[in-house]
Amino acid sequence: MPASAPTQLRLLDSYGRVGTDLRVSLTDRCNLRCSYCMPAEGLDWLPTPEVLTDDEVVRLLTIAVERLGVEQVRFTGGEPLIRRGFPGIVARTAALSPRPRIAVTTNGLGLDKVAPALAAAGLDRVNVSLDTVRADTFAAITRRNRLADVVKGLEAAKAAGLAPVKVNAVLLRGHNEDQAPELLQWCLERGFELRFIEQMPLDAQHGWSREAMITADEILASLKLVFDLTPHPDERGSAPAELFLVNGGPATVGVIGSVTRPFCGDCDRVRLTADGQIRNCLFAREESDLRTALRGGADNDEIADRWRAAMWTKRPGHGIDDPSFLQPSRPMSAIGG
Ligand code: GTP
Ligand code: 5AD
Ligand code: SF4
Repeated sequence: MPASAPTQLRLLDSYGRVGTDLRVSLTDRCNLRCSYCMPAEGLDWLPTPEVLTDDEVVRLLTIAVERLGVEQVRFTGGEPLIRRGFPGIVARTAALSPRPRIAVTTNGLGLDKVAPALAAAGLDRVNVSLDTVRADTFAAITRRNRLADVVKGLEAAKAAGLAPVKVNAVLLRGHNEDQAPELLQWCLERGFELRFIEQMPLDAQHGWSREAMITADEILASLKLVFDLTPHPDERGSAPAELFLVNGGPATVGVIGSVTRPFCGDCDRVRLTADGQIRNCLFAREESDLRTALRGGADNDEIADRWRAAMWTKRPGHGIDDPSFLQPSRPMSAIGG
């Protein structure tokens, strides 16, 4: 690896990948308690003074888009819709030049109320997490009885033209492992694009185990008992999801096989945490502190340089299979998926 990072242009890493997809966590808080994510009692949330203000978020977004070549901004959490001022952040992001594509990944609670305002503010797309369409299974997994609210949110997103509406599902042994076909059928009937995600070692409780994880192979085998699946002909590019045509298409289903079918070689992502740290990977062990620089009076050039330097050190892959693998200290809810 050359000794120092380039000082010009885009967010390059030393393996030739370019960061064009910025995932911005707006809060580490959440109104669900998914058992594969956090304990029933929740977590110690970030203290408010450590969380970037709306103005600070927009300043970093402006640098990312206008100087560093970021082309897509995805807002995440915790749960991004509980961030006050979210529609305003979307509107200010849509005013950047060149205008980035703007998406959000949400658990869907409250989306029924804000979907029209978000679409008007410039939001392009929404991905909603939904692991089951059975109310009892939903309550068991998320520890909240809110399935009907998520369904309302999904319908409202579709009605607001936030297309394509994608659904993310995690399968858990003993909960919903046998529900993949019924969830797919439900999404097909409503025009939602379903993707199944392999569970990753990112839970706050450090309870993940490879044996308990439902693999991409298992997911596909269970779907193939009911549906005809064929590989999607389109180039996958940097997308985490491997897509399949369902019963000849045009409907699709995706599998995000982060663990057994890693896609790190094509990664174009970089992450900003709610407290202003750059993470060049979900599984990064180091972060780069832009908040201190920002609050210490650094100018845009300096922040852009720090960001480029952070990206240059991105590792080639997540290393989950390495004997030396260590789960990152921040859980998924504080990184933003
Ligand atoms: P689309 O452009 O809508 O397909 O977005 P996406 O799939 O990148 O976004 P989303 O937030 O819906 O991500 C779905 C899941 O993909 C996340 O929850 C993660 O599990 C996984 N994922 C996204 N980015 C990465 C990544 O860089 N590494 C790994 N291992 N998984 C990722
Ligand atoms: N592994 C895989 N996916 C996870 N998600 C949350 N925690 C994990 C994990 N440990 C999913 C959520 C949501 C998306 C943002 O990430 O279900 O769909
Ligand atoms: Fe909240 Fe998402 Fe974690 Fe569930 S997985 S508790 S919705 S942050």
